[in-house]
Amino acid sequence: MESTAYLETNKQRFLNELLDWLRIPSVSADTKRKPDVMRAAQFLADRLKDAGMDNVKLMPTPGNPIVYSEKILDPKLQTVLVYGHYDVQPADPENLWSSPPFEPVVKDEKIYARGACDDKGQVYMHVKALESMLKNNELPCNVKTIFEGEEEVGSVNLDNFLRDQKSLLKADMCLISDTSMIANDTPSICVGLRGLSYMEVEVTGPNRDLHSGVYGGAVANPINVLCEMIASLHDEKGRVNIPGFYDDVKEFSKAERDEMAKAPFSLDQYKKDLDIAEVVGEDGYTTLERATIRPTLDCNGIWGGYTGEGAKTVLPSKAAAKISMRLVPAQKSDKITKLFTDHINKIAPKTVKVKVIPHHGGEAAMTPTDGIAYQAASKAMEKTFGKKPIPAYEGGSIPIVASFENILGLKTVLLGFGLNSDAIHSPNEHYGLFNFYKGIETIPFFYKYYAEMSKG
Ligand code: BES
Ligand code: MN
Ligand code: MN
Repeated sequence: MESTAYLETNKQRFLNELLDWLRIPSVSADTKRKPDVMRAAQFLADRLKDAGMDNVKLMPTPGNPIVYSEKILDPKLQTVLVYGHYDVQPADPENLWSSPPFEPVVKDEKIYARGACDDKGQVYMHVKALESMLKNNELPCNVKTIFEGEEEVGSVNLDNFLRDQKSLLKADMCLISDTSMIANDTPSICVGLRGLSYMEVEVTGPNRDLHSGVYGGAVANPINVLCEMIASLHDEKGRVNIPGFYDDVKEFSKAERDEMAKAPFSLDQYKKDLDIAEVVGEDGYTTLERATIRPTLDCNGIWGGYTGEGAKTVLPSKAAAKISMRLVPAQKSDKITKLFTDHINKIAPKTVKVKVIPHHGGEAAMTPTDGIAYQAASKAMEKTFGKKPIPAYEGGSIPIVASFENILGLKTVLLGFGLNSDAIHSPNEHYGLFNFYKGIETIPFFYKYYAEMSKG
């Protein structure tokens, strides 16, 4: 393909542009970064224009804008809707980064920066793949892109946007690069993602911080109470101890689990990589299953009392925790949120006041492997990796996949090029040059095969 040759001659420029984009700290969780988020959106819009896309615009939402663009060759042809996000996670704890998160560096063939993999690097593969196809007359069907700026804070305005813009977004399928592969020599296509319910629990004891010697032992300590409640949320079998939590869980069949177990996975390597002696989890399931097709509950943050230098004897007035539950197909986020809230209220002792605050949520997703969209993606990866990709479940969440299906009636292909070792959301996030370039090489083949297959 001409596009492949075009990539070869423009490699360095493609990379430099991505590095420029990564310098813009588009952290959606941080309201002080709003101007940067806007700058990142504008940068993306400008690059889409340069690539030759039409009708490029920043479409306002009550939050951050959606960057829209399209190339309509012929209304009779298939239309691919590409989704991704230009917002990134906060960089903290910044002191754990080896180089500043928004001063990208290329080291050991990897780009180090916040957003390098999740998701700017992967979005940029699409921008450059589109450029490669458009400059070489190789785009074989219509394409529309929507890149949002609020994915990392729960995509709270996206459902309404999809509802309002149904006709503008009319398409035949959705294509997303925001997931991982098993390894660079083991390509895979994500076929399932978990859902999410994100909660906060606040425990208030006495009306002020107290001397822990004067009052300790006689007044309930909110940190102790919170920890006891959290500890009780798992049973001895590693299951989530909330009544009704498993009621709707899709149980995978033996055949499905056997199929999953064929994917290469080394538990020793996994433990070594994380520097842990043992893994944990629900009895009766493998590590891979626990991290993908089983629901979970985890504390994401916990605070209260004195955490400064040295020791301060204090019985704090308040303690709080952020708790997320990863959900699997058929569990409903709203229902789980309610079960969690009711259960916490039920187990809260009278000695404290407990407040449960729901944050965002989203549904799990499964994508089909029998349609031409998946087949085209599989063939494209096979072409550029020299190996047929394995369908794989992943544990992360992209709630809008369910929204694309429910609101727009679109099936999605999750053609991601990241690796689980890319440290997304962590310090020293990175993205391999191999992965970045492989994505730009593979995407045009996807369009080629998808257009060919849809002609029948
Ligand atoms: N790209 C990730 C999701 C992901 C990561 C899928 C790795 C598969 C493999 C996405 O940006 C993300 O971080 N999603 C959030 C959920 C969202 C509602 C904040 C998540 O999974 O925590
Ligand atoms: Mn992402
Ligand atoms: Mn993310």
